[in-house]
Amino acid sequence: MYSSVAPILFCLGYLSRTGQSQPVNQTTSDSQYSIDWNPTYEYSTFSYYPNPSKTYATPNPKANSTTYYAPHYTDVAGSLLGNISTTTWGNWDHSTKVNATDSDDPYGNYAWTKMWEDASIKNYTNSALYSTTVTPTAIPSSDLILPPEDSYSFDDTLKFPSGFIFGVAGSAAQIEGAIADEGRTPTILETGTMNDNKSNDYVTNENYYLYKQDIVRIAAMGVKYYSFTIPWTRIMPFVLPNTPVNKLGIDHYDDLINTCLEYGITPIATLTHFDSPLMFNQGNFTANSTLFNNAGYDNDTFVDAFVNYGKIVLSHYADRVPIWIGFNEPFLYAGNAVGVKHVIQATAQLHKFYHEELKATGKFGIKFNDNFGVPKDPTNEDDVAAANRFQELYLGSFANALFLGKDYPDSWKDTFSDTLSEFSFTEDELKDIKGGADFFGIDPYTYTVVSAPEGGIEACAANSSDTLWPYCVVQEETAESGWAIGYRSQSYVYITPTQLREFLNYIWDTFEAPVFVTEFGFPEWREAEKELKDQVFDENRSIYYRSFMQAILQAINLDKVQVIGALAWSFADNWEFGDYTQQFGLQVVNRTTQERHYKKSFFDLVKFIEDRR
Ligand SMILES: *[C@@H]1O[C@H](CO)[C@@H](O)[C@H](O)[C@H]1NC(C)=O
Ligand SMILES: *[C@@H]1O[C@H](CO)[C@@H](O)[C@H](O)[C@H]1NC(C)=O
Ligand SMILES: *[C@@H]1O[C@H](CO)[C@@H](O)[C@H](O)[C@H]1NC(C)=O
Ligand SMILES: *[C@@H]1O[C@H](CO)[C@@H](O)[C@H](O)[C@H]1NC(C)=O
Ligand SMILES: *[C@@H]1O[C@H](CO)[C@@H](O)[C@H](O)[C@H]1NC(C)=O
Ligand SMILES: *[C@@H]1O[C@H](CO)[C@@H](O)[C@H](O)[C@H]1NC(C)=O
Ligand SMILES: *[C@@H]1O[C@H](CO)[C@@H](O)[C@H](O)[C@H]1NC(C)=O
Ligand SMILES: *[C@@H]1O[C@H](CO)[C@@H](O)[C@H](O)[C@H]1NC(C)=O
Ligand SMILES: *[C@@H]1O[C@H](CO)[C@@H](O)[C@H](O)[C@H]1NC(C)=O
Ligand SMILES: *[C@@H]1O[C@H](CO)[C@@H](O)[C@H](O)[C@H]1NC(C)=O
Ligand SMILES: *[C@@H]1O[C@H](CO)[C@@H](O)[C@H](O)[C@H]1NC(C)=O
Ligand SMILES: *[C@@H]1O[C@H](CO)[C@@H](O)[C@H](O)[C@H]1NC(C)=O
Repeated sequence: MYSSVAPILFCLGYLSRTGQSQPVNQTTSDSQYSIDWNPTYEYSTFSYYPNPSKTYATPNPKANSTTYYAPHYTDVAGSLLGNISTTTWGNWDHSTKVNATDSDDPYGNYAWTKMWEDASIKNYTNSALYSTTVTPTAIPSSDLILPPEDSYSFDDTLKFPSGFIFGVAGSAAQIEGAIADEGRTPTILETGTMNDNKSNDYVTNENYYLYKQDIVRIAAMGVKYYSFTIPWTRIMPFVLPNTPVNKLGIDHYDDLINTCLEYGITPIATLTHFDSPLMFNQGNFTANSTLFNNAGYDNDTFVDAFVNYGKIVLSHYADRVPIWIGFNEPFLYAGNAVGVKHVIQATAQLHKFYHEELKATGKFGIKFNDNFGVPKDPTNEDDVAAANRFQELYLGSFANALFLGKDYPDSWKDTFSDTLSEFSFTEDELKDIKGGADFFGIDPYTYTVVSAPEGGIEACAANSSDTLWPYCVVQEETAESGWAIGYRSQSYVYITPTQLREFLNYIWDTFEAPVFVTEFGFPEWREAEKELKDQVFDENRSIYYRSFMQAILQAINLDKVQVIGALAWSFADNWEFGDYTQQFGLQVVNRTTQERHYKKSFFDLVKFIEDRR
């Protein structure tokens, strides 16, 4: 506002046909502004701008050869896995009761069907369009025209190191549907609070049958890595060691992996992404949970069962899949300190199997969630202590042991001191666990402003009735300046690239391991309510992605932080755990027709990276 300045009144002057300006009337004023009434403007012959020439996304070249990272299954199965049996089950026909006649067989059709009946999931219907794998069709070039150029640009002086991994990600329960087809058994995500009166995962993107088309769409955009997850209950419907392996499940991911390779995409696979088998906690997320959800990782039988499942998957696919993630964001589903211990043990054991027994040459790691806690006032010791505590709980609780061979942070032990004997490690165990993951995966969607509670952290940590326990820090989405931390999305995500760069430095300096940004993404505000043409013009998501990639470039080039790659979440809109309106996708999905449409951000993100290789 320029309130002390008198308004300037003027009218359009006469302009002669020769382009020479004539004097015009002006209001005299004491304004500090002066307008040049004899400027050097010129007339010329007007013509409309031509349409910009069309440029197209560059698809991946077809692969000519395959690189192998481990022996083939047929060469190792017998020696490494002992005696495993393989069988098949059908699809659950929910309209009929269990009437299979093999009730004597603990793993027969009767037992399989009964798992679904016992789960008593609500409103199960199979309203899907597909019941068999869809043959992919080529993407028409009209779908691959680059969006209009922006009026602003990002710095392009910094470059990605050679070998930098850029890919797109998704997770099984969020995209596959077909939950009771081809032998799959229930997971915690089909029951209880997750589906109570909310949208469910029964159909979602039907990727279980449309995976080939989805891979072709990713390849058409020129993306070289696809990160997917394998559901435990598709591979082993009865979950536990010495139960049969599902042939149809094994064949499905075999073909998914081979399809990626055929289209020039390197697969990245995760062993569990919140879709824990129902049996470990009977679907009760709140049972024994002092943290977030309890997916049953604290169950006594969990570690052996997970390691057994992991060995079976790795033996089948590690020949062609070079990058593995054991657990996705375990803090959100470990439930309590015992669950955290089990995640550490299972990760370290599978890591050992991968390198020492399977003698695989790729990487086996883990990915964490933490919306970086930044001290509200970095000059205030208490706020700094609060931020440190925040990171120690979310990250140090797992990463101290896995990456540094160090015991749990004191803040962790003090907070859960009543069960310390159940989750502590011995010195020898810590030595053994050290180096139990090859990379530090992080899903840094945004950041959090953190400060100490009024009564202090210690008093809260010692008082499990305190409303802030067990975190015992104040968390805000407003910075100390009074401004929101960034431009807001539909949910908790804000555009916060500066803090991403800061966070990458924190992880690298604290845990001294290669950092892999394994998820990041932005659900546009009320995107689902827009018309298709406006949904795909997702400018804010595009800004989010490019500003985050810029921060990654700065961390790599200016701060010398080793960031090995980034995976955008997600390759398409999907089931966001009870919600279809919070859309994180790089593609729109029509929930009636299952058609996919590329969004602007997808083109912009790929171009940003290719321009800086
Ligand atoms: C300029 O001011 C004069 C005198 O007030 C008036 O006659 C004339 O119409 C004005 N011209 C314009 C373009 O307003
Ligand atoms: C495969 O071979 C063709 C022909 O030699 C070549 O143009 C293409 O780039 C190769 N693809 C890859 C991924 O190397
Ligand atoms: C493998 O399992 C089958 C059936 O469960 C059993 O008959 C066979 O003896 C087992 N073989 C070994 C070597 O344990
Ligand atoms: C199971 O029930 C369905 C229909 O309810 C029937 O068609 C089928 O024959 C039955 N199977 C057996 C083994 O009884
Ligand atoms: C089940 O269907 C009823 C009636 O249509 C609906 O009110 C409820 O929200 C649904 N529940 C779930 C979990 O889908
Ligand atoms: C879900 O809806 C049913 C029927 O409307 C209701 O009885 C139940 O309390 C609801 N559950 C939750 C968690 O809101
Ligand atoms: C623990 O897992 C086993 C399956 O291995 C299951 O039978 C048992 O009920 C689970 N315990 C709890 C408390 O959920
Ligand atoms: C809760 O933990 C106790 C003690 O560890 C265990 O006995 C019980 O089975 C657990 N309950 C559930 C539902 O996991
Ligand atoms: C889940 O566990 C909590 C805490 O142990 C218990 O109070 C509740 O009844 C359980 N709910 C179900 C559905 O089993
Ligand atoms: C623990 O926190 C509760 C809830 O804020 C409070 O009522 C209680 O006085 C606290 N206990 C102690 C020992 O501070
Ligand atoms: C997204 O970005 C545009 C342009 O920067 C802005 O005008 C708009 O308000 C933003 N929000 C939504 C919900 O589109
Ligand atoms: C889904 O596609 C159908 C058929 O093209 C169309 O009528 C409908 O409007 C689309 N739905 C949305 C939400 O765009």
